[in-house]
Amino acid sequence: MPDQGPAPAWRYGSSLPQRLSRNYARYRERGGRIDLYGDADAYAENGRLQDCERLMFLLLAFDQIHKEGLPGDVAELGVYKGQTATVLARNARRLGRTCWLLDTFAGFDAKDFTGADAGRGTQFADTSLAAVRARVGEENTRYIQGFFPDTAAQLPPDGRYCLVHIDCDLYAPILSALEYFYPRMVPGGFLIVHDYGSMEWDGAEKAVDVFFADKPECIVPLPDSAGSVVIRRWRPPTPDGSWLRQKQALALDQWHTPAHNQIAAALGEGWSRPEAWGIWGVDTAHTLTFAPADAASPDLVLELDVHAPLVSSRPELRASVSVDGAVAAEWLFSEGQNRGVRALPLPRQTGWRQPISVTLRPETALVPQTVNPASGDTRPLGIALHRLRLRRA
Ligand SMILES: C[S@@+](CC[C@H](N)C(=O)[O-])C[C@H]1O[C@@H](n2cnc3c(N)ncnc32)[C@H](O)[C@@H]1O
Repeated sequence: MPDQGPAPAWRYGSSLPQRLSRNYARYRERGGRIDLYGDADAYAENGRLQDCERLMFLLLAFDQIHKEGLPGDVAELGVYKGQTATVLARNARRLGRTCWLLDTFAGFDAKDFTGADAGRGTQFADTSLAAVRARVGEENTRYIQGFFPDTAAQLPPDGRYCLVHIDCDLYAPILSALEYFYPRMVPGGFLIVHDYGSMEWDGAEKAVDVFFADKPECIVPLPDSAGSVVIRRWRPPTPDGSWLRQKQALALDQWHTPAHNQIAAALGEGWSRPEAWGIWGVDTAHTLTFAPADAASPDLVLELDVHAPLVSSRPELRASVSVDGAVAAEWLFSEGQNRGVRALPLPRQTGWRQPISVTLRPETALVPQTVNPASGDTRPLGIALHRLRLRRA
């Protein structure tokens, strides 16, 4: 494409992440915690939502922090009037964390006008700590006013962070912030630096390149207007298993439903999408992988509330059930014995640390459209799961 000067402001169209737009209602139904409208209103300036990509990225990062169960606080260096800080603080509150907000609240400090930033002048002085407090609020929020890195001493010495947003434009404070926060990020934590790719602040790009040149993590450029970058802190293997393994832990003696996402992590291969009533197994093998939340549990029984689609051409369905690969039960679904709770004793284990794998294997799957051509459902349906419970034998 020939160089035609500055690109038109909006030539290629835009779309929001589907999770937060067309599927937002589904996302919320399944327990998603992002408050899209509240956060967007808080982020908007004079009623306008500029740099929507920036907001969307922050929200998706918080969503992932919640999903993976990352511990740690939230921090921002470079608050100015609090536009991004308000989003960080709102999400820190929702996660039950503290949001640490650091700035001079009086603009750049001339001590930072060195190297690539030599000759720059005062900017961002038209703010105040009081004004930011009024906008962002006090709950779960701590303000640290002054020149960074001098103010780092006011942060908790044992502080750990799941998300840090560095937005202070200049080489020296960005490098200082990377040196301070990087070792304090929790494994998997999000370290975000604004202005890297904008070509407005050469010091930002330089500080990030210098700092990450010898780190195991690589930067990922983001498509917000100022070219933020993100790294996720390296995560070593953990003795307690991955976050996904931990999510596969089922609390004993209570019913769990697919519809409310309670067993999303336990649903392995061979399941369709959760629906309001439960979930369809598809094809002829549906696997559940889970472990009891209490590893010291005694003998356990898995109860599955299930049914099979029966039609006149297939009035019965046989299914085998295997536990960790060995057949443990044979089930018959028939007109008189279809929907109901079926119990599966689990082989005794000395401890329940390892996940257990249970696979339902219906002999055949049924495509609704082949029985009723008016049905648009072309999925090969196996066994429907309404809810499950893991109980003491
Ligand atoms: C671009 S503004 C931050 C924008 C803000 N994140 C927002 O959402 O609008 C940069 C901020 O970094 C702060 N800053 C720059 N160098 C600093 C330093 N060494 N110590 C503390 N704050 C600094 C400035 O005071 C300024 O408020």
